[in-house]
Amino acid sequence: MNEDIKEILISQEMLSNRVHEMADEINRDYKGKCVFFIGVLKGCFLFLSDLLKDVKLDTNVDFMMVSSYSGNQSSGVVRTLLDLKQSIEGKHVIVVEDIVDSGLTMSYMLKNLKTRNPKSLEICTLLNKPSCRKIKVPIKYAGFEIPEKFVVGYGLDYNELYRNLPYIGVLKESAIEKGKRYDK
Ligand code: IMP
Repeated sequence: MNEDIKEILISQEMLSNRVHEMADEINRDYKGKCVFFIGVLKGCFLFLSDLLKDVKLDTNVDFMMVSSYSGNQSSGVVRTLLDLKQSIEGKHVIVVEDIVDSGLTMSYMLKNLKTRNPKSLEICTLLNKPSCRKIKVPIKYAGFEIPEKFVVGYGLDYNELYRNLPYIGVLKESAIEKGKRYDK
């Protein structure tokens, strides 16, 4: 285990099993349809790539990057940093996110994407922290409900560190200091 991690919350095996299950659900729900996956960068990158390997449907993939976080604090202000290159009009869209925490990011994205007239629009998130919610968001596919802890790994970062960990872990306090140093 990485020396900065206090506790492994979700192991590599648990992640792999659950991602397979989520892909199966999507395969069932969208049988015969083409699905447009929107990955929310950067946190989605490992989850989306593993999920898509098990999706047996016709797919489009595109990415958006939005920002509301600095370190481990949400600024509450969401901005689009990178937009889609393709139109989603008339498409079945699934937004793939690493974690829904306050819900501000997803609520902003849903509002924005709805104006582009997709045929359907759903959220698929690996992690869900319902106790932190500030705005209600309709989540169709959620991998794991987790407690109110700041987690890293499997795509999720702290100041751009730890995305490469193959599990979801809780950071030690000392690592939070280290993250701040690397940020300079
Ligand atoms: P929300 O807008 O508060 O729902 O937060 C969504 C975004 O915040 C996610 O896409 C993550 O990038 C980031 N985030 C929220 N909680 C965590 C966490 O525990 N670890 C790492 N990133 C997080």
